Amino acid sequence: MLEPWGNDMMANLETLVALAKRRGFIYPGSEIYGGLAGTWDYGPLGVALKNNIKNLWWQKFVAQREDMYGLDAAILMNQKVWQASGHVADFSDPLPEPRPDLKNPESQGQAFKSQGRTLKQFNLMFETKIGATDEAAVSYLRPETAQGMFVNFKNVVDSFHPKLPFGLAQIGRAFRNEIAPRDFLFRAREFEQMEIEYFIPPPAGGEWEKTFEFFRSEMHAFGQSLGLAGIHDLEVPVSDRAHYSQRTIDLEFDYPFGRKELWGLTYRTNFDLKAHTEASQVDLSYYDEEKKERFIPYVIEPSFGLDRTVLAVLCSAYAEDELGGEKRVFLKLPSSVAPVNVAVFPLLKNKPELITKARAVLDSLKAKSYNLKAIAWDDNGNIGKRYRRQDEIGTPHCVTIDFQTLDDGTVTVRDRDTGEQERVGISELPEHLA
Ligand code: GAP
Repeated sequence: MLEPWGNDMMANLETLVALAKRRGFIYPGSEIYGGLAGTWDYGPLGVALKNNIKNLWWQKFVAQREDMYGLDAAILMNQKVWQASGHVADFSDPLPEPRPDLKNPESQGQAFKSQGRTLKQFNLMFETKIGATDEAAVSYLRPETAQGMFVNFKNVVDSFHPKLPFGLAQIGRAFRNEIAPRDFLFRAREFEQMEIEYFIPPPAGGEWEKTFEFFRSEMHAFGQSLGLAGIHDLEVPVSDRAHYSQRTIDLEFDYPFGRKELWGLTYRTNFDLKAHTEASQVDLSYYDEEKKERFIPYVIEPSFGLDRTVLAVLCSAYAEDELGGEKRVFLKLPSSVAPVNVAVFPLLKNKPELITKARAVLDSLKAKSYNLKAIAWDDNGNIGKRYRRQDEIGTPHCVTIDFQTLDDGTVTVRDRDTGEQERVGISELPEHLA
C-alpha cells in the first residue's frame, strides 16, 4: 500500500477535491457563476456520507443516552442573544491592512504584531435584516449552534424536569464570515456543527474535570468508529481560548495541509446561562430537589464540525495501491459511513436472464435493508470499470450475477480492500454482507 499523502501534501488535497467532485461527493458552491468562496455543495454521495455521520453521532450521543435531549433551534435569533453571549463584542478576527508582499492573512497578522501595531477587528457574524420595514431589526446568521441550546434551557427543564447532569444536543448550520476561507471543507463560511451543552452542578471537588475527561474519551471513540487515522489533543493556551472558555482542548487531525483542529472540547463555566439570565431577566437557574439548592448550572461543551469530520473521514479513507498490475485509487470507508454499501451488477447488460436475476437479488437485499439508497445498481461499462468506480466511492462490496448464478444460485462477492472475490449462495448473501 502506498502512503496516501506522500510528500506533496497539497497536491494530494487537490487530488481529493477532484475525486470528490468527479464522483459526486462535493461540488464548489455556485460553480457555474464562478463559485462563491467558502461555500460547498454536497452531491448525492456526499449528502449520503454526511447523513451517515450525523446519524452515527445522534445515535451515540443522543438516542442511546437517557441524559441527552435533542433540539433543532432556529438559525435566526433575536440580536439580544448575540449581545448577551458576547459575540457582538468579541467574535472577531484581526483584519490587517493588506501588505502586498504578504499573501496570507496569518503572516499579515504576524507582521503587524511584530511591529507592535494594533489590528482592526472584523466581526465574523453575517448580519441580516429581519422584516420589511425600514427600521427592520438587525439579526445574525448564527455563528454556533450552542446559543440555541442555552436559550431553550428553561423550556426543556420545564417540559421534562431532567435531573442534573443532563445535556442538550443539536446538529445544524452555522455561518462565519471567515476572512480567508481555505483548505476545501476545513474553513468554510457556511458549515454544520454537531454540539452538546452538558449541564453540571457548580464545580466542587473536581466534578467538571471528570465530565470533561468522559467526553474527551467519547470524542476519541467516535473518531475511531469513523476510521479516523490519529486524533491528537492540544491544550489550548489562555491567549487562544474563546471569551467564554476556562479550558479548551482541540482534538486535532493530520490533514494533508498539516495538523489542525478537528473538534473542540470546552469548559464554558456558567458564562452563558448567567449572561442570558442577566440580559433577558428570565431566571435560568436550576433547583436541585435533593440538595435543596438553587444555582446556575455549569457547562461542558463537546463541539464537532461536521464538514471537517467529512474531510477527515475522506482523508483517512483515501488510498492508492496496485491491483492486477494496475494502479488504483480507493476509499477505505467504514461500512457504517459508506454512501453505498453494496453494488449489484449483472455481468452483461444485454442478457435479459442476467438482468432479471440481478434485479431479483437487488430487490431481496433492499427488502432486508433500512437504508435502501445504500444498495446500488450498476450495469454501465465493463466489469473492471464498475469495480474501479465503486472502489473510488468506497463501496465495501460488489455482488456480480453471472451465468454460473443461473445454474447454481451463487454470486461473486468482491471485497473492496483486497480485491478478492468469493462465491456465495444468494440465500446467504444478507448474512455474508452484514
Ligand atoms: N460552540 C463552540 C464553537 O463554535 P469553535 O471551535 O469556534 O467552537 C467548533 O467551533 C467546531 O466547528 C470546530 O472545532 C470546527 O470543527 C468547526 N468549525 C469552526 N469554524 C469552521 C469553519 N469556518 N469551517 C468549517 N468548520 C468550522
